[in-house]
Amino acid sequence: MSVTTTDAQSGVYNDKVVRQFAIMAVVWGVVGMLVGVIIAAQLTWPALNLGIEWFSYGRLRPLHTNAVIFAFGGCALFATSYYVVQRTCHTRLFAGPLAAFTFWGWQLVIVLAAISLPLGYTQGKEYAELIWPIDVLIAVVWVAYAIVFFGTIGIRKVKHIYVANWFFGAFILAVALLHIVNSAAVPTSLLHSYSAYAGVQDAMVQWWYGHNAVGFFLTAGFLGMMYYFIPKQAERPVYSYRLSIVHFWALIFTYMWAGPHHLHYTALPDWAQSLGMVFSLILLAPSWGGMINGIMTLSGAWHKLRDDPILRFLIVSLSFYGMSTFEGPMMSIKTVNALSHYTDWTVGHVHSGALGWVGLVSMGSLYFLIPRLFGQKKMYSVPAIELHFWVATIGIVLYIAAMWIAGVMQGLMWRAVNPDGTLTYTFVESVKASYPFYVIRLVGGLMYLGGMCIMAWNVWMTAREGLKAGAVPAVKIPAPAHA
Ligand code: HEM
Ligand code: HEM
Repeated sequence: MSVTTTDAQSGVYNDKVVRQFAIMAVVWGVVGMLVGVIIAAQLTWPALNLGIEWFSYGRLRPLHTNAVIFAFGGCALFATSYYVVQRTCHTRLFAGPLAAFTFWGWQLVIVLAAISLPLGYTQGKEYAELIWPIDVLIAVVWVAYAIVFFGTIGIRKVKHIYVANWFFGAFILAVALLHIVNSAAVPTSLLHSYSAYAGVQDAMVQWWYGHNAVGFFLTAGFLGMMYYFIPKQAERPVYSYRLSIVHFWALIFTYMWAGPHHLHYTALPDWAQSLGMVFSLILLAPSWGGMINGIMTLSGAWHKLRDDPILRFLIVSLSFYGMSTFEGPMMSIKTVNALSHYTDWTVGHVHSGALGWVGLVSMGSLYFLIPRLFGQKKMYSVPAIELHFWVATIGIVLYIAAMWIAGVMQGLMWRAVNPDGTLTYTFVESVKASYPFYVIRLVGGLMYLGGMCIMAWNVWMTAREGLKAGAVPAVKIPAPAHA
């Protein structure tokens, strides 16, 4: 049965917007990772900047981070949250036209970012580079998102609010708060503004934003995915529902205080740096509580990992989540940070979280969704999912191992001194020594991008089968029931 306007009124889920976001997550994934591969190549061979301003590393790097986090990650989060909130609340999305507006509004934000960043328009704040008119558009789209999501919770037919929605809800609220506070600025023209903050306050607000962007954009929302798609794919209930609630409140409370670990040994008061360090160490506990809860959901069903590549994406993403949330607290210890800061160790940490956790959990969830959204029993090619899994996993390992070795080496080279107190190595010697690792990172990145291209092909073929057979389904909402 195909979706018509009458269906819209007749008790079926609104999956159109889910389909749109899911497809665009895959498209932006390919684009964002391609830009990642280009900048990885530019770091290896600077001649690839080609002497063209808009193609230079400095312009493309923020394009990469914005594309992978907000375009790829963002579309995956919109798609999954809209799917999950309808299924767990047994109701159609609240304010359908507003949901459609969030789709088109978010795509407009992405296109504007893709134009303005290469042209060099930036506010100079990491992960908040976009100029103020785009910031205003983001705020409007985000408020619309909040209305759709919480409105759907408000009209739910199931009394209980499933834990995945708590995580999605916290992600939506926190990102609104972070974005609005950190982007406060005084415009001087359409393309330029000054931050409302100055000096060390500006730095503190920026890294309160930056760290919580990790905590809420790159973590809480994806934990929402974990709590829905792992039990679904494993056909097992969540290991401990009680732990999931403790996990939620502990994580939400702790993340907010950890930002100063990005500003160790700066003009920020020492007590604030130590506070950030202590909260980062505490953060290990809720993070691992969540990881264990996800992995243990497989208890009694471990054998499924052997022949279900989608489940493998989801579970291996949690191992990377555990790894990066162990590494993060270690890096927040001031003496460790004295070694790791400014080095590629940070970049390795980022990508073990980004490729391993955010990337794999999104891919697993999308592989679950796509066949259902296009009326198919399974993806067009299951061996292609298998291939994607292995190519991506080996790519991640190459990427992060290369960055760890390069990072520790750089840190040690920079601090090495001769008996007479002079530096043992010049900076350029450390750059030269990093070269082989940049090549390895590039190979790892190419593999990860290759995996994403395989996924794009597989998604295209699955969608085409669905559309060809006129099988894009309208899924009926079940009659009112208990949770
Ligand atoms: C094919 C895959 C990818 C490749 C080759 C790649 C490559 C790169 C490179 C070369 C940098 C610059 C590092 C530097 O400044 O020295 C970078 C930065 C970054 N990338 Fe990626 N990336 C990929 C995928 C992703 C994904 C999927 C995400 C997030 C979901 C991500 C998030 C980031 C972030 C947050 C930074 C900034 C790191 C920092 O400031 O420390 N990347 N990436
Ligand atoms: C318990 C959890 C975590 C803690 C305590 C933590 C801690 C840290 C620390 C100490 C740094 C280095 C700051 C510096 O020297 O500049 C860092 C950087 C970073 N982490 Fe984590 N991390 C955690 C989890 C994660 C996860 C799961 C992700 C990604 C999904 C992530 C993404 C990042 C990014 C993007 C940066 C680079 C920021 C920048 O300088 O641009 N972190 N983290």
